[in-house]
Amino acid sequence: MADLMEKIVSLCKRRGFIYQSSEIYGGFGSCYDFGPLGVEFKNNIKKSWWDEMLRGHETIVGLDAAILMSPKVWQASGHLTAGFADELVECKKCHHRFRKDFLEKNKCPDCEGDLTEPRKFNLMMKTFVGAVEDEVNQTYLRAETCQGIYMNFKNVLDSMRLKIPFGIAQIGKAFRNEINPKDFIYRTREFEQMEMQWFCHPREADKWFNFWKEERMKWYLDLGIKKENICFREHEKGELAHYAKKAVDIEYNFPFGRKEVEGIHNRGDWDLSGHEKYSGKELSYFDEETKEKYIPYIIETSGGVDRSLFAFLADSYEEIKGGRTKTTEATKEIEVVLKLDKKIAPIKVAVLPLVRNKPELVKKAEEVFELLKPHFMAQYDEVGSIGRRYRRQDEIGTLFAVTIDFETLEKDDVTVRDRDTMSQERVKILDLTQFLEKKLSE
Ligand code: GAP
Repeated sequence: MADLMEKIVSLCKRRGFIYQSSEIYGGFGSCYDFGPLGVEFKNNIKKSWWDEMLRGHETIVGLDAAILMSPKVWQASGHLTAGFADELVECKKCHHRFRKDFLEKNKCPDCEGDLTEPRKFNLMMKTFVGAVEDEVNQTYLRAETCQGIYMNFKNVLDSMRLKIPFGIAQIGKAFRNEINPKDFIYRTREFEQMEMQWFCHPREADKWFNFWKEERMKWYLDLGIKKENICFREHEKGELAHYAKKAVDIEYNFPFGRKEVEGIHNRGDWDLSGHEKYSGKELSYFDEETKEKYIPYIIETSGGVDRSLFAFLADSYEEIKGGRTKTTEATKEIEVVLKLDKKIAPIKVAVLPLVRNKPELVKKAEEVFELLKPHFMAQYDEVGSIGRRYRRQDEIGTLFAVTIDFETLEKDDVTVRDRDTMSQERVKILDLTQFLEKKLSE
């Protein structure tokens, strides 16, 4: 499995999915940049989540709150206290620092030196707002996007005239000063979250918790994650986050083990009560029908964009030793196919002239590319043999390859090759857009 990790990291760099941040300066503390294919892939994941939340459920609305907020938010939420801190130990010999719960034994994994007693290390990232760097101007980069949602609970409730139960969804960056970021994009200091906060009556919290747990699992399965690679894991009492009454993780079988991709939490009234107390502003809900006034409970679904992208990559990666192509004399090397779901694959269609030294073929291929480009994320490629170009597209998960050959010039049709079956069918150029649209919506 470690081998799979290396292959994925290498593919990501080689094919423009993910690069290390500030690479020419030797990289920067577990930060990553998403390249041309990575950003498409990531946007598709986010769109799929957004559509699912906002279109699939009529009582969810969206929000895009600021990353910087009043530091009081983080006092009230409990993030500045021990609740949001990991246990840090330091090697007395080499002075490397580690998260205690990541160590297998009580010795430095780098030099076998003795370790200090653990101390609490807060994960909030400090910054300063304004020209003076003093305590008054100090605030934090948000550690979870949901606090921006709680800040706007009343605004959204009043301006959108909503009734409980309802949800607010948000996608955005979050920052944590992780002691040991690791496993490629799995644990980083800057990452993106897709969070939905469902406000409900306390009496109904269990019902909605179970509902959202199942909905979230379905999302991963619908986007192609294999059933055997994903599961629920309920948190034991002792491992619950400071805000949670109950929590279930959705875990994926990553190359380095089974680990969380998303958490579903019953946060009770922790957040709204806390903010009511600290701000002095009332955050309760009044039910016009029952005349009941109460602080709603919050059921949260909190997924990582980066972690789910990693899971989709690992799950769709397939290697075929000796290659799939049996009809050509091409060297039978290992072929890689990224069997990404059509909704999230970064490139939907590749346009390939059979050869590039025939101007009439190239001209026609360019015309077909121009025809498809406004409709689909498309790529034009004329470099190398046609077999090699098919393999290049398979490796990045492109769903269809459209080839322009000599018959095209006579009959105005093209071959459309399917990534997974490698079957080819001839389609009239006139019908091509509609044909691909139908295939992609099936
Ligand atoms: N609002 C609740 C919350 O933030 P969490 O379990 O701490 O809960 C939710 O985080 C999700 O955010 C995780 O399941 C994971 O996908 C993502 N996440 C958290 N820390 C991360 C990190 N250091 N790197 C990448 N993703 C992270």
